[in-house]
Amino acid sequence: MKFGYFDDQNREYVIQTPQTPFPWINYLGNKDFFGLISNTAGGYNFYKDARLRRLTRFRYNNVPVDDGGRYYYIKDGNTVWNPGYKPCKTELDDYECRHGLGYTRITSAKNGVSASLLAFIPLDYNGEINHLTLKNTSMETKHIQLFSLREWCLWDASDDMLNFQRNFSTGQVEVKDSVIYHKTEYRERRNHYAFFSVNAKIDGFDSQLEDFMGMYNGFDAPQAVLAGQATNSVADGWQPCASHQINVTLLPDEEKSFIFVLGYVEVPVEDKWESPHVINKKPALQMIDQFSTDGQVERAFVTLASYWERLLRLYRVEIDDEKTARMVNIWNPYQCMVTFNMSRSASYFESGVGRGLGFRDSSQDLLGFVHQIPERARERILDIASTQFRDGGCYHQYQPLTKKGNNDIGGGFNDDPLWLIAGTAAYIKETGDFSILNEKTPYDSNPKDTGTLLEHLTASFNHVVENKGPHGLPLIGRADWNDCLNLNCHSTEPGQSFQTYGTADGRVAESVLIAGMFVAIGPELVELYRRKGLDSKAREAREEIEKMRKTVLEHGYDGEWFLRAYDAFGEKIGSKECEEGKIFIESQGYCVMAGIGVEDGRALKALNSVRDILECDHGIVIQQPAYQTYHSNLGECSSYPPGYKENAGIFCHNNPWIMIAETKIGRGDRAFDLYRKICPAYREDISDLHRMEPYVYSQMIAGKDAGRMGEAKNSWLTGTAAWNFVAISQAILGIKPEYDGLRVDPCIPSLWGEYKVTRVFREAIYEIHVTNPDNVQKGVRSVTVDGKPIEGNVLPVLEAGTKHIVEVIMG
Ligand code: GLC
Ligand code: GLC
Repeated sequence: MKFGYFDDQNREYVIQTPQTPFPWINYLGNKDFFGLISNTAGGYNFYKDARLRRLTRFRYNNVPVDDGGRYYYIKDGNTVWNPGYKPCKTELDDYECRHGLGYTRITSAKNGVSASLLAFIPLDYNGEINHLTLKNTSMETKHIQLFSLREWCLWDASDDMLNFQRNFSTGQVEVKDSVIYHKTEYRERRNHYAFFSVNAKIDGFDSQLEDFMGMYNGFDAPQAVLAGQATNSVADGWQPCASHQINVTLLPDEEKSFIFVLGYVEVPVEDKWESPHVINKKPALQMIDQFSTDGQVERAFVTLASYWERLLRLYRVEIDDEKTARMVNIWNPYQCMVTFNMSRSASYFESGVGRGLGFRDSSQDLLGFVHQIPERARERILDIASTQFRDGGCYHQYQPLTKKGNNDIGGGFNDDPLWLIAGTAAYIKETGDFSILNEKTPYDSNPKDTGTLLEHLTASFNHVVENKGPHGLPLIGRADWNDCLNLNCHSTEPGQSFQTYGTADGRVAESVLIAGMFVAIGPELVELYRRKGLDSKAREAREEIEKMRKTVLEHGYDGEWFLRAYDAFGEKIGSKECEEGKIFIESQGYCVMAGIGVEDGRALKALNSVRDILECDHGIVIQQPAYQTYHSNLGECSSYPPGYKENAGIFCHNNPWIMIAETKIGRGDRAFDLYRKICPAYREDISDLHRMEPYVYSQMIAGKDAGRMGEAKNSWLTGTAAWNFVAISQAILGIKPEYDGLRVDPCIPSLWGEYKVTRVFREAIYEIHVTNPDNVQKGVRSVTVDGKPIEGNVLPVLEAGTKHIVEVIMG
């Protein structure tokens, strides 16, 4: 069952009912200022950091789940309705929500009035525009009262929902003309405020939620709206909000539009006040001025569209498979941008207060984003690196506002260091910018203690070399990629954090996944050394990698598949000897991606085991058999009910690792089959089961042991976005950036006859036409560039600004 449809022409997903199986959301904003918006206009805004600089309030633990947002109430006689259906839930005569790239447009109608609400954040603008248009489609003149509503968050979203003894006494606003300014804590140490404006004369306002709502009413029945009259309340403590009342008269056929701006302003300390106790409104008024006419809004909207047009032009496929095309050309890159911006901080499953940016998460997000805006990837790499410790270890997370490592979670996740090498290599391959390696970057955010990025990467590599266990495999620390395989935690008391309890420094528990990563990612560093003329370092590193490869084959293979780990007692995990958790996906993926066992058939066996044991209709589960009971030697993975999350859920993130691994052994049919299974566009038809947005990946789909197999959760912020983009664009369609050019090495379903990829690489345009006359899955017989045959299958770096026709014949 579907709840809408893809409009590929306009690059939108069109939702046809407000009652989707879960709020289906979208993201506004590209750089510093962001908003989350659901298909019923729920959600919130923040500047840079969803925890530390939250502008508007959102209650996650709410009933219903998505209450609170950018609400507009239309009171037409005795009927009160909202363009987005919620919160009044008055039945609408018409409803449609179009989620597009960086904007959402909701249109609806009731009793002869139609409304259109366009929400977006213009480029380089710290404010959200809500362009609301009302039209009278009836034969009579309409007298409507329009009310807006935003709730202010007292900046620190965590404090905002905990510290009421203080919060209820601190709230402050100013109201002037049609603008409501939120200035809580501005009188002391904050040099920033927020505002909510409208480009029309208002007939009243409220800025104290208790007065607007009435003490005992909910969002669906605000007292001021029901009475048809705002109370002109000026917040003084309690819960500050911002609501405008505008009385609108509409003649038959008449249309009126309003521009609401929710903005954020920073003021230099010396300019904070206009007069005693009166905030300096000049910067806000300038922002408001930028969007006071419909024309200004329309121009900014067009600019946003062309921004996306440019980004999406960088990789475009033309293929006889509409679902793949829409994912590759529109939604997958879009989600890659969002995950790059948000990491795992703010979604409808991530509250924005828990985690900042993850070291490993952000490094992997880069893989799918780097071709879009390499400069931002560069900045991110350096930011991440500067939280690294001198010994190569890393803070697991950092706050985007301060860019400092997060002490609550600390470090000791021993896969983290390697991801920095992976991210940096991807950046250099995309851009050819080796200069990033010379950038001086702090250790532990200490500007007095720095090393070049290359030194950081060396520290990453050595961190693995210097932290091996009894079998010569890498020590796992608190966990590796699987945050829930906590082999040194041994927690027995509720409430102990699996990620921070116990020691990070166990000297026995080892990870075969980190070993696979080391063999897969390590060679990137070898290559960087080589190109820097550091030959002896390159040789030493190569020897370490070779040693690890042998160790994996000797101590990390279990007959039919790769082991997962050894626990703190030296016992095998992910082995046929185990009763539960006999086989895990991660080590199969990474070891085969590393090429381990490809020559002697062990890789093939491992992937067949994945197919036979882990795969189901909805994708590949993370391990089997699921843990039926809690095991303190394994940690959080065994804490989840069977079939969910890291306990045998389909954890989508590493499904693409298997897709890529399949392409390593030439099985394009398999790779694409796996691609399809978790691909949201392919799952659109089962939206009633899947429940999450059909245009983006979710972190998890319930596995075969779960009560609700096939149901997804935790949409949007997942490394799945980046990895699937890598899998489809580089491994399957086969266009891979390399240091010296663009490798073309497709691995596709044998039935595919041809496709075309237009790739902008180092500013040259490559139009790559692939044909497959013999119906093979892998192998390139010939390549021509502009009609001339080339040796091998690496397209040379061509002059920026030029366009080239590439013909690739498989066989
Ligand atoms: C979450 C985390 C990620 C981790 C994964 C598996 O998605 O963000 O860092 O690798 O779970 O535990
Ligand atoms: C929980 C989740 C995991 C996530 C981790 C972050 O353990 O199961 O997916 O990565 O929290 O700390």
